[in-house]
Amino acid sequence: MELIGRMLDGSIAYDPQGGLEPSSSGLRQDDKMDRLEEVPLFQGCSRRQLRHVARIAETFDAPTGMTLARTGEPGNQFFLILDGSARVDVSPQKQRHLHPGDFFGEMSLLDGEPRSATVVAETAMRVLVISRRNFATLLGEVPGLTQNLLVTLSKRVRQAEAALER
Ligand code: CMP
Repeated sequence: MELIGRMLDGSIAYDPQGGLEPSSSGLRQDDKMDRLEEVPLFQGCSRRQLRHVARIAETFDAPTGMTLARTGEPGNQFFLILDGSARVDVSPQKQRHLHPGDFFGEMSLLDGEPRSATVVAETAMRVLVISRRNFATLLGEVPGLTQNLLVTLSKRVRQAEAALER
């Protein structure tokens, strides 16, 4: 299981040498909501729905170089980038870059398959992490979210197909 998952479910304690840190500035609920409001994924959500998201999402700081998801491994978390950037290693030849407001980790949560790519922190990052169980509940409670997720997934498929044709 991924490091963050084990921290979220309490099966390992936070290890200051381990690299991943619960966000030191401890974003307040209101600050989290302000950040979430700016994210395209959550466009159309009511304040009440955003409050729910802010409650279930944990904030973590990841240092440069940290692997947040690894190809072929089981994945149980959804990540939303608040600060910093990540590199997605789709294959040795194909990399993508994700920035604040982008998300990753949704594929394994949606289809139950292992991680499709490796995701590495390209800079120091702050991420919001939502566990599998909370993610499923959220999709049930906020129907617009599925639609917004599908828009991004469609874009990723188009990009992948365009890259194959090149
Ligand atoms: P998941 O498969 O759970 O874990 C790896 C993540 O990398 C994947 O979810 C997506 O969020 C992301 N990912 C995979 N392929 C691409 C791509 N072509 N472009 C951007 N992100 C991707």
